[in-house]
Amino acid sequence: MTSTNDIRRSFLDYFEKAGHARVASAPLVPHNDPTLMFVNAGMVPFKNVFTGLETRPYVTATSSQKCVRAGGKHNDLDNVGYTARHHTFFEMLGNFSFGQYFKEQAIAHAWTLLTKEWGLDPNRLTITVYHTDDEAAQLWKRIAGLPDSRIIRIATKDNFWAMGDDGPSGPCSEIFYDHGDHIPGGPPGSPDEDGDRFVEIWNLVFMQYEQVGGEIVSDLPKPSIDTGMGLERIAAVMQGVHDNYDTDIFKALIAESEALTKTRAEGDRKASHRVIADHLRAAGFLVADGVLPANEGRGYVVRRIMRRAMRHAHLLGAADPLMHRLVPALVAEMGGAYPDLVRAQPLIEATLAQEEVQFRRTLANGLRLLDDATGKMFTGDTLPGATAFKLYDTFGFPYDLTEDALRARGLAVDRAGFDAAMAEQKAAARAAWKGSGDRASDDLWFDLVEEHGPTEFTGYAGHDGEGIVLALVKDGARVDSVVEGEKGQLILNQTPFYGESGGQIGDAGQLSSINGLEAIVEDVSKPLGKLHLLSICVKKGKIALGDTLHQSVDVERRAQVRANHSATHLLHAALRRRLGGHVTQKGSLVAADRLRFDYSHPTALTPADIAAIEAEVNAHIRHNQPVSTRLMTPDDAIAAGAMALFGEKYGDEVRVLSMGLPSPLAGEGDSRSERGEGSSSYSVELCGGTHVTALGDIALFKIVAESAVSSGIRRIEALTGEAARLWLTDRDARLREAAATLKASPDEVPARLAVLMENSKRLERELADAKKALAMGGGSAQAEAAGPEQVAGYPFLGQVVDGLDPKALRSEVDAMRARLGAPGIAALIATNDGRASVAVGVSEGLPVSAVDLVKAAVAALGGQGGGGRPDMAQGGGPDGAKAPEALAAIKDALAKVAV
Ligand code: ALA
Repeated sequence: MTSTNDIRRSFLDYFEKAGHARVASAPLVPHNDPTLMFVNAGMVPFKNVFTGLETRPYVTATSSQKCVRAGGKHNDLDNVGYTARHHTFFEMLGNFSFGQYFKEQAIAHAWTLLTKEWGLDPNRLTITVYHTDDEAAQLWKRIAGLPDSRIIRIATKDNFWAMGDDGPSGPCSEIFYDHGDHIPGGPPGSPDEDGDRFVEIWNLVFMQYEQVGGEIVSDLPKPSIDTGMGLERIAAVMQGVHDNYDTDIFKALIAESEALTKTRAEGDRKASHRVIADHLRAAGFLVADGVLPANEGRGYVVRRIMRRAMRHAHLLGAADPLMHRLVPALVAEMGGAYPDLVRAQPLIEATLAQEEVQFRRTLANGLRLLDDATGKMFTGDTLPGATAFKLYDTFGFPYDLTEDALRARGLAVDRAGFDAAMAEQKAAARAAWKGSGDRASDDLWFDLVEEHGPTEFTGYAGHDGEGIVLALVKDGARVDSVVEGEKGQLILNQTPFYGESGGQIGDAGQLSSINGLEAIVEDVSKPLGKLHLLSICVKKGKIALGDTLHQSVDVERRAQVRANHSATHLLHAALRRRLGGHVTQKGSLVAADRLRFDYSHPTALTPADIAAIEAEVNAHIRHNQPVSTRLMTPDDAIAAGAMALFGEKYGDEVRVLSMGLPSPLAGEGDSRSERGEGSSSYSVELCGGTHVTALGDIALFKIVAESAVSSGIRRIEALTGEAARLWLTDRDARLREAAATLKASPDEVPARLAVLMENSKRLERELADAKKALAMGGGSAQAEAAGPEQVAGYPFLGQVVDGLDPKALRSEVDAMRARLGAPGIAALIATNDGRASVAVGVSEGLPVSAVDLVKAAVAALGGQGGGGRPDMAQGGGPDGAKAPEALAAIKDALAKVAV
């Protein structure tokens, strides 16, 4: 038997030998076409080569392209599992000529490969051509020697292939294989052509035109060839079976699900095993290409596929989650041809396990509700839309899963009722919205979400990609275009631009188009948490609704933001380890040039704290562990040890970021192969932001400021990478400058400064003493020479000095009183810059209060008040010139009280 892997290889070998470049399959998410959900044909990655927009270093190519048809127009999901040839995921073998060869060589290659290389019986092959394509019909006759009866002219669009409404197109010629008259069905074009006897195995498209909006608008630069052969179909033919699910890869996958569920793929269970095998391939390859389950866009398609398979696993009676246990079989079958599948195996397994655990929690309850609701229904009846909506909303049943569950019983679902219930829920959410307070703009965003759904964010995996303009806004109102020189805002159907949220700033970058548009994306916000709103400035050309734009995120800036965001998580974990579990995040800013982190803690960090935290974070950076991202329910995430971030609102599922080995400083340099995942990681947080792939990308972490925000909340500001290096370099330069000024080496600076400070303090002290001595000098000598006066019978020493520091007054008065030698009164008035201060001391036991004496002096100095204790009082006034009068006033007052 020829295995599927052999057939794929043999096809590619054949065309490679015939001079075609062997091109690896492109990822399932198209990079060059925003209108497509997934790559759905082998030519999609070459679309721009056909139209001449792009050139490659080859003019002919061959590939085996991964394709998914499970969303948008080609929704095959319903039939998959119940027919012989429907798949969500399939491989398309193709050969392509970009203006090199055309019909003749394409037909010759196809015929040679099928009948000579692979030895198919020519009598089993029938050809169709487009009804006007005489040239193709003649070529088939000449090259294959087929009679006219086996070259059938078809007038319908079956023989005119177009990529979609927009893109290359042309007439085509299909090759059918006749499985034999034991199978019902007629040749193409006949009344019973829909039977299974004649199966299309290969389509040769003679690419000639370019379409826009479904109309041919121009000829391609050169006539070209695109062919597509479904690998699963040709494998069935070459393996002598009629059903794709009986080919080797499917047989192996089904054998595995039979073994794990201990059931046989027979009778009622046959479809379930087929659904599981098909959906395992789709889910596995989609996750490997970065499409993770979500409630919107591509992520919702993969979720629908996964949950449909999981319901069939449940039907088979699988007691435990099943899908992730089938991944090793998938990798064994297909990992050889698709190395990405091998690399992504852990992610695929974890994602499927998580999704199945989550879904199984509500599956049984949902099925019970469904049974109750349909218990009394009969074939042909319809389930109310409201019930289908409840299943969707409460139990996570995608709409088509409910349909699938009822299919075997011949029951339908009221789609219109489902849509109405969905619309009602959205209206209620809108009414409940508190919002920004700006009703007008909130209404605009709600309208846009209702019209277009949330923006699909493609920026976790990449930095650029195309998008279609869904809405343009200028000065708060919707417009049709934004032209050169104008500023505006826009929303695209999908974007790699991150919208500001969770503390992380929005991305910046550029927009361009094939019409010569050049625009700058200055900032990106995220109204309602759903729309990515790009604030733009048009530099050249214009942007109109419906335009396809190429979007490029400023990669350098994004890399800095990523480093700062991952460093914030490490910092949070380090703070908790150092200070305790009471530390929680109270806000953060993750910008390109810095990060800021606010957290609950009562006191400032000590230099030792800062050093320890920096050392720990930098140790993780050097360990360079990969950062892991998983999707979970919020509850599961918190159970797994994730710390919820401040102020975030969480939906049905959250991204859980795990980073670093649990024990950061152990075994540096010898543990790089271990994975930093789960609660065994150093940091586990819920976060929708963008992060480094491995911690080494942060390069360097430095805390540059620590301060208080409010009572109990501290703030750290820090830098990473090049910004941290520049900061340290700048610090070093300043230290060198200081050293040069000190005429010392940088190492000596602290000791030299300590000496200088000591000297300076001593000099200040000496200077103050000298000033005092100078101030007290003359007056005191005179006064003391004369000896104390007797006022009202008490020894009294009074003095006016200029320039004495008021702070020294009290000690000087004490000293004067000591010099009296007996109980008495001392008064000192110091004038400074026109003002005067006064202090009076009275010996204990005298019937006189210093306060009364000072008050008299203060009044004379034009001031008010003055106070202290009976033995020592102080005061002052603005009129320093009156100091002698003030001294006299003290004496008068003393004379009065003493009488
Ligand atoms: N692009 C052609 C198809 O998908 C070959 O059938």
